[in-house]
Amino acid sequence: MEGEIILEQRFDTSKLYIITSLSVICAIVVVAKINEEVRSVLVFAWACFVKPLFDKFGSRSSSQQQVLEKFYKNQAHVYDKTREVLLQGRIEALKLAAAHLNKKKDIVWVDVGGGTGYNIECMDRVKSISKSFKAVYLVDLSPSLCEVARKRFAAKKWNNVHVMLADACSFEIKDAKADLITFSYSLSMIPTYHSTIDHASSLLDSQGVVACVDFGVQSADTIIGRVNTLGGYVNLCTPWLLRNFWRIWFEADKVHLEPSRRQYLEYRFGTIKSLNMFNNTLGRIPYYIWIGCDKRKSDELIHRINSLATESPYLSPADEETKFKIPLSKGHEAALSNMQKRLPYPSIYYQREVWRVYYDEIQPQYHQFADQYIYAFTWEDPREDNNILRFSSNDTVLAITSAGDNILSYATLPDAPKRIHAVDLNPCQNHLLELKLAAFRSLTYLQIWSMFGEGRINNFKELLITKLSPHMSSQAFQYWMTKGEKTFNPNGNGLYDTGSTRWALRLAKYIFKFFGITNAVKKLCECETMQEQKNLWEKHIKPALFNPFVSAAFIGNPIFLWKALGVPANQAALMGTSVLKYVIDTLEPIIYRSLISKDNYFYYLTLTGRYSYDNCPDYLTQKGYGAMSSKSKPRKEPPLDRIRLHTDTLMDVFNRLSSKALTIAIIMDHMDWFDPKGQDAVAEIQALKKCLAPGGRVLLRSASTHPWYIGKFESEGFLCQPAAVREENQSIDRINMYASTWVCTKMDEPRRRISSLKI
Ligand SMILES: C[S@@+](CC[C@H](N)C(=O)[O-])C[C@H]1O[C@@H](n2cnc3c(N)ncnc32)[C@H](O)[C@@H]1O
Ligand SMILES: *[C@@H]1O[C@H](CO)[C@@H](O)[C@H](O)[C@H]1NC(C)=O
Ligand SMILES: *[C@@H]1O[C@H](CO)[C@@H](O)[C@H](O)[C@H]1NC(C)=O
Ligand SMILES: *[C@@H]1O[C@H](CO)[C@@H](O)[C@H](O)[C@H]1NC(C)=O
Repeated sequence: MEGEIILEQRFDTSKLYIITSLSVICAIVVVAKINEEVRSVLVFAWACFVKPLFDKFGSRSSSQQQVLEKFYKNQAHVYDKTREVLLQGRIEALKLAAAHLNKKKDIVWVDVGGGTGYNIECMDRVKSISKSFKAVYLVDLSPSLCEVARKRFAAKKWNNVHVMLADACSFEIKDAKADLITFSYSLSMIPTYHSTIDHASSLLDSQGVVACVDFGVQSADTIIGRVNTLGGYVNLCTPWLLRNFWRIWFEADKVHLEPSRRQYLEYRFGTIKSLNMFNNTLGRIPYYIWIGCDKRKSDELIHRINSLATESPYLSPADEETKFKIPLSKGHEAALSNMQKRLPYPSIYYQREVWRVYYDEIQPQYHQFADQYIYAFTWEDPREDNNILRFSSNDTVLAITSAGDNILSYATLPDAPKRIHAVDLNPCQNHLLELKLAAFRSLTYLQIWSMFGEGRINNFKELLITKLSPHMSSQAFQYWMTKGEKTFNPNGNGLYDTGSTRWALRLAKYIFKFFGITNAVKKLCECETMQEQKNLWEKHIKPALFNPFVSAAFIGNPIFLWKALGVPANQAALMGTSVLKYVIDTLEPIIYRSLISKDNYFYYLTLTGRYSYDNCPDYLTQKGYGAMSSKSKPRKEPPLDRIRLHTDTLMDVFNRLSSKALTIAIIMDHMDWFDPKGQDAVAEIQALKKCLAPGGRVLLRSASTHPWYIGKFESEGFLCQPAAVREENQSIDRINMYASTWVCTKMDEPRRRISSLKI
């Protein structure tokens, strides 16, 4: 197929090519300012655009080396200068590869198609060539480029760097194995790429890393059937016109962008990270950065298969009855299926951390969120959760991820639950929590504060590539590569102005401005005493906020409720007749409860767009950082490793967990979303019951004081008790958005069968 397409296109190639190259040259001549640089640009243009034209009609060269030499001989001396702009992503690829190398010293590195040695010199700025590397081999088939490299290294006096004039598929090195093998814009030029990749694969150490940065195009058709091995497909597919234009364009310079080269790489190795990029100023030429490893990386894989298999064998209760009923996780099934097809395992299996549980990202259910999280912060009070539930390290907890704030707060507790399953159907909510987990693993307290306290940081991309990436799934990494810089931009509005919750913050700001109380609100966030706070509220803020106009236009508007607060229509109906009254009942007691400036980080954030050091979630305090970043204590898993991220519906997770695995499930207001007439609530309660241990508890919140589904819990044999019901002029927690909090306890079932046997 692929071959046919290329053959057909070759027919048109020359015409299209002549026209475009001539116009590019004209453009270059016109645009380029007459200075020293012009000469190198012209040499480059001649060698890349004009000379190949003549070659096309001239004699064919008999070996690839001759072909390469013909192309590179006249431009070897200007090569580095002219490629700086064209060959994007090379430094990022080196940094990413270095970040994923477990080895800190005595690294053996082979740079295949290394050309002038530019990359080796760049690497020296990331990782010292003389100190960290045992040996560096530059392999290249072009004598004139190798000559440039030799001179470059001689000047640096690096005696551990060896330049080898050899073919990529047959070179030999003195060391038995390589820890790092890189292809920087070379794979697309190597005709024998299958054999080259095979050779690299046999040379790579089992703990080593292979990295490739290159031009390349993919279409949607080329990824089907192997999506889970790719590590995400953000920007992977190039539109038809661009795809074909660039492929034909580069073909004339013997650079081949067709999909099969990258595909073979992705088949021979396990994918650790992949990025699909383009640069608008360079005509959106598609290029990619890809990091892989030995696809049989066995020890870690077994660890992952075990820990990902649902509630993991080591967590299922040692109960003869349940022992043979452990369901397979989706990840386990996917790994087995890939194995049968001789494909690498899903990309998630090659990651350093075990947090993220496999999900089949191509499923349509994950795409309803338009690649955005809804919650940039969690709108539930974890302090109350602990007051009610009293978590201990005997607990296995399941909770909804949301922005991950509560998951992290539970994990920060002195006697934190031994396992916390965070569940969310929206992949981006888990991407956000994964970013936080990776930050605790690799950043300093001040950096974490900057990102999640202030919501802004200076060098996000650099931190992401060099520090955070080894601790993230490829999917989360792709997400934050595309969105992170804007989100955390120090001159922007910050993290808390993202997601749909940003509308709440923006609207609050807008209303305050409209009613001229911006200053009063600012003062509210600085009040030192309760009296001060109450006065401000009564005199300045309340009269303005509860203006009927505002109510009608915004707060009573179901579209606003849905967009800003994530309150769906079913839930809004539970609030009773007057939404305005509901809002008054919510806010006023908050003002009377505690100081917004010191003890209510939820409203403080909504009003100011950031946290303060003494008014923030526990995990953002110094103490929380100490707990979260702690390495393993004897016989105890460190808090970070107790967390698992499931991208799925609650129902699906319940169905896959082994029975009686959970002691606590915190399902927030999730059941308010169900239709009281439907069967969904009952089905979910039954599934939930199956995976709760006897005495296991469900904590839920509702916009109603006595939600309709409590009865359903009771008929399934739960004992249901309100932990808090909101009364007029009172608050049940620091948010007070819900009318009630309930605990439903699974009661011991009478063991009829066994007792009847005994009788
Ligand atoms: C576009 S250059 C990239 C050079 C360098 N890696 C960089 O990033 O600047 C492609 C390189 O691949 C080399 N190359 C092409 N075919 C090769 C082969 N069969 N064996 C070794 N090197 C080859 C070329 O000589 C050239 O130096
Ligand atoms: C695109 O390329 C130009 C020229 O090298 C560079 O200045 C710019 O930063 C690049 N943009 C991105 C988004 O990488
Ligand atoms: C945890 O379980 C052990 C063994 O069942 C028990 O001895 C201990 O008291 C429990 N701890 C808490 C805090 O409940
Ligand atoms: C609630 O507070 C309002 C105003 O502060 C007061 O008028 C009303 O009587 C209170 N209601 C109850 C039940 O305490």
